[in-house]
Amino acid sequence: MKGLILSGGKGTRLYPLTYTSAKQLIPVANKPVLFRVIEAIRDAGISDIGIVVGDTAEEIKRAVGPGKQWDVNITYIPQDAPLGLAHAVKISRDFLGDDHFVMFLGDNVIQGGISSLIAQFASSSYNSQIVLTQVEQPQQYGVAQLDDQGQIIKLIEKPKEPPSNLALVGIYMFDAHIFEAVNAIKPSWRGELEITDAIQWLVDRGHNVHAYIHRGWWIDTGKPTDMLEANSRVLEELKPTIEGYVDRDSEVDSRVTVEAGAEIINSVVRGPAIIGKDTRIVNAYVGPFTSIYHHCLVENAEISRSIVLEHSQIRNINRRIEDSLIGRHVVVHRSPIRPRAYKFTLGDHSQLGLLGDESS
Ligand code: G1P
Repeated sequence: MKGLILSGGKGTRLYPLTYTSAKQLIPVANKPVLFRVIEAIRDAGISDIGIVVGDTAEEIKRAVGPGKQWDVNITYIPQDAPLGLAHAVKISRDFLGDDHFVMFLGDNVIQGGISSLIAQFASSSYNSQIVLTQVEQPQQYGVAQLDDQGQIIKLIEKPKEPPSNLALVGIYMFDAHIFEAVNAIKPSWRGELEITDAIQWLVDRGHNVHAYIHRGWWIDTGKPTDMLEANSRVLEELKPTIEGYVDRDSEVDSRVTVEAGAEIINSVVRGPAIIGKDTRIVNAYVGPFTSIYHHCLVENAEISRSIVLEHSQIRNINRRIEDSLIGRHVVVHRSPIRPRAYKFTLGDHSQLGLLGDESS
């Protein structure tokens, strides 16, 4: 069996972080989402993995390389334009051959991995297995309508009036019949070859498509709030380790991971949280559900329920920062220089939430 990861797309809903960088490389709990996807596929026993790449190909190749660090072989498959998930399958034909494969969207995070799903598919006679889960806003996803026996009646991409609240999770398993389907379907109203339509094509022709209902959490990390939620969920499941230095004046609870080279000085860190490699936390408070990536500094400041990317600094801020996604090489600090005014250098599409009360 082979793995196919989709890692193209522009990530517009995560601007400005994704102007220059791939959304799949934003870390949750200090590990890029794409690395978590590779690990989930590797842990299911698959070592031949294709990654479909677009505009951010170079950055993804630089970060992932040939796959040695996971003991897998990575093949890169360029997609000229984001023309849909079924289009990605179409252009991956040479890599996939006639093997069964699992397709996994490179920005999806799922509880519990996919090992049991893959084992179930491998030992079945299904032509395809899809994963469904209950969501609150099905109109944002592909949606399935099942009969009383759990058989698929209909799959619809982003329906205005969803027939159920069962969304298609971004993990799909196929045999080679899918190539007939992706070659037969036509682009949708959004100009994409939809995998949902390709699966419907299989269903309509009597192929055996099995719907697996996933009961744990699943997050498609398209927006900043999704990133923060995925971060919280993964942090909750992380096995904590302390490899860095915690001084005697600091208080670090049992659900905190401190990576090698990190230093916690005169600070309080409440878990679940992770402090990255060579990051310094000085006279600060880091609250639950926070991930500070490598080479950062948090000094005389308080932060919780947030993600801070590498090489950023938060200094001398006297209000707590919450629910924030802070990019790379960002500096947030209180300036000692007059006039006493806000001074910003913000990228396009940045969002800054200032307090209404300006008294301090
Ligand atoms: C895609 C699929 C959709 C699925 C979703 C899961 O949507 O088309 O059926 O529910 O991924 O993340 P897109 O991310 O292209 O909007």
